Amino acid sequence: MKTLTLTRPDDWHVHVRNGAVLTTVLPHTARQFARAIIMPNLKPPVATVAQAQAYREEILQAIPDGRDFTPLMTLYLTAATSEAEIKLAAEADFIHAVKLYPAGATTHSDAGVGNIGQIYPLLAALERHGLPLLVHGEVSDDDCDIFDRERVFIERHLNAITKEFPALRLVLEHVTTSEAVQFVEAASANVAATITPQHLLFNRNAILAGGIRPHYYCLPVLKRERHRLALLKAATSGNPKFFLGTDSAPHLTNLKETACGCAGCFSAPAALELYAEAFEQVGALDKLEGFASFYGADFYRLPRNSGTVTLAKSAWQIPTVYGDEDVVITPLKSGETLSWKML
Ligand code: DOR
Ligand code: ZN
Repeated sequence: MKTLTLTRPDDWHVHVRNGAVLTTVLPHTARQFARAIIMPNLKPPVATVAQAQAYREEILQAIPDGRDFTPLMTLYLTAATSEAEIKLAAEADFIHAVKLYPAGATTHSDAGVGNIGQIYPLLAALERHGLPLLVHGEVSDDDCDIFDRERVFIERHLNAITKEFPALRLVLEHVTTSEAVQFVEAASANVAATITPQHLLFNRNAILAGGIRPHYYCLPVLKRERHRLALLKAATSGNPKFFLGTDSAPHLTNLKETACGCAGCFSAPAALELYAEAFEQVGALDKLEGFASFYGADFYRLPRNSGTVTLAKSAWQIPTVYGDEDVVITPLKSGETLSWKML
């Protein structure tokens, strides 16, 4: 059987939620990855070091016995965040980044930043302390077409931010367009990007052609095929600015299969398998280890993992749903056959 062995990978962008959803989804991430950058968009948001510490404790409790998994915590940037809190975060060894959600851009982003100009003093503090800024790069204006929101965010905000704060370490999260790829490639070594499995595997037809498929709806929304090809090229290029971040974002099935469904794809149960499928499409399986296991750790200035994981070329059917009677979550590619399986 064909197999692929990689240094243990990390997920540099994941939503694991809290409460009963956390205990349902975390074991999947902890099985596949050694570490993960945990998104802070709970309700209320994880906006202080004390809140991040409490959330980290809750996550540690949810790790199945015997699993060696480290959650890497982040803070949610709000207009009320102080420079003192940024300093505290930089000093806390369990906090690895601060997340910028433009207000209204996505799930639980209402506490996010309305006026990006107003947080320049906080960006200066992040730059000074060397703490990475993770960016949901979409404008949220009603009059901006949803397929243009990432490109417009780059033009309107990111060019200015990287110019004003050249030493700021910045990750443009879940890039979805050729314009985002070009922006990251042209920026300094302080600027990187994560790429999700769904944006490597699917274009916007997956959501809309032949019927509306809510489990392919996430934000930033899937784009045209030419953008998918640009992302696949970047991910498999061996350029260390592009690394793995699943953006696995679980929502209960009934909250996605409804008239106004939530954004987010639950990819955690088969994340590596999905990436392997995408890399194999372009004959680049040899580039998967750098993308999944090396470049993110290097960017975050953390040691690369020891140990390995192995995937086998072995067809299996991903379950239609995960969870129990109270928590039912539909995974990406629900019920479909995947060609790779993590052993
Ligand atoms: O699709 C998404 N879901 N995009 C985000 O930015 C947030 C995430 C979530 O938390 O559900
Ligand atoms: Zn996310």
